[in-house]
Amino acid sequence: MRTQVAIIGAGPAGMFLAHLLRADGIDALVIERRDRSYVEGRVRAGVLEQATVGLMRRLGLADRLEREGMVHRGTNLSLDGRMFHIDMAALTGGSTVTVYGQQEVMRDLFDAAQVRGLEIAWNAADVALHELDGTRPFVTWRDADGAARRVDCDFVVGCDGYHGVSRASLPADVRRTFERVYPFGWLGILAEVPPVEDELVYANHERGFALASMRSATRSRYYVQCGLDEDVADWPDERFWDELCLRLGPETGARVTRGASFEKTIAPLRSFVSEPMRWGRLFLAGDAAHIVPPTGAKGMNLAVSDVTMLGEALAGHYRGQGDAGIDGYSARALARVWKAERFSWWFTSVTHRFPTMDGFDRRIQMAELDYIRGSEAAQRTLAENYVGLPLTGGVSSEAV
Ligand code: FAD
Ligand code: DHB
Repeated sequence: MRTQVAIIGAGPAGMFLAHLLRADGIDALVIERRDRSYVEGRVRAGVLEQATVGLMRRLGLADRLEREGMVHRGTNLSLDGRMFHIDMAALTGGSTVTVYGQQEVMRDLFDAAQVRGLEIAWNAADVALHELDGTRPFVTWRDADGAARRVDCDFVVGCDGYHGVSRASLPADVRRTFERVYPFGWLGILAEVPPVEDELVYANHERGFALASMRSATRSRYYVQCGLDEDVADWPDERFWDELCLRLGPETGARVTRGASFEKTIAPLRSFVSEPMRWGRLFLAGDAAHIVPPTGAKGMNLAVSDVTMLGEALAGHYRGQGDAGIDGYSARALARVWKAERFSWWFTSVTHRFPTMDGFDRRIQMAELDYIRGSEAAQRTLAENYVGLPLTGGVSSEAV
């Protein structure tokens, strides 16, 4: 088998890239370890930046998004139960975010892939990358029947997430990693109940962080900060609802509609970047190269901005416009990645309870949130990061 670009992983990064390349007439094969229902079934991100929505429109993937996506012009912050609103659209010249679950995005990407005949090799085991530093790279795997498979290509793109094989294919003396592991996780539930507010609520409470989000007018997504050693079995629904309402405060908490949860998982929080994002004929994109804590809702959006840049670079190469795009991809992507890392780290730092926090730390946090409440400048800074920074420009720290 031969293709122009072999893409490892059919998550958001891999599937958006496959559609982008197809739009430019470039051949690609996506090689995915699991099957479609597994990838589509994972409950993950919920908030799309304006640029992500724009890309879905540009790729002809936005029909259902236009009907079912919920456009949010602002968001709420809550400090010990006192809530205030940030009018992101007014602060950013009209930018909004759209609430539309990653599961829905994946369904749209896969449905359109089927119609457009994009090739996906599902259930690929033992995926291995070869000859990445030469001119003729190839990828091998075992298919669902156990048969050995191989595809030769011009480029390999690692879109295989944090636990994938691609990042590890860079030589150890080339790769540099940067990491913060947070001493807590998020316990998240889905429930078939109307959301407590029209827009999201990010709540800092003495007992810990809470987030009120949604998937539709009748389906809510709620999170509470929890310990890393905790088990979902320790969190029957009643305990979850009680804790959530406490952290949202008496006024908002009293308006929460409770109901049976049908999803309950704990996710650890991490900041992580692996540099560079290109080595020889291998490029990395999305969670394969970086992880953000979910507080800023940046994970999936970063995967999309990476592959938007990479798609442009590869299109330039195949159009015969030279390799400046390819050569500049890592620095350009990392410049934006680090700003999203900074924002996600900062937003996590000011909204969560850290086990080592003393009275001083707590008061600094409260002062920071109170400052945001009263300062248009501070609100604008938050808003422009939350709706998503532009794709162009920026100086990478890669060389530091
Ligand atoms: P992934 O979505 O991880 O996709 C990678 C794909 O590669 C997967 O389909 C995987 O099966 C496949 N793969 C892995 N290894 C191999 C291999 N060896 N060979 C072939 N294929 C392979 N973000 C938010 O903004 N908000 C959230 O609430 C949120 N919650 C999250 C909860 C969890 C538990 C996790 C893990 C992430 C969450 N994220 C959230 C982050 C967001 O979902 C990710 O940033 C986004 O999915 C990244 O997309 P990706 O395509 O880079 O990677
Ligand atoms: C959701 C997840 C996030 O991490 C976030 O910041 C906002 C919303 C969600 O799942 O709806």
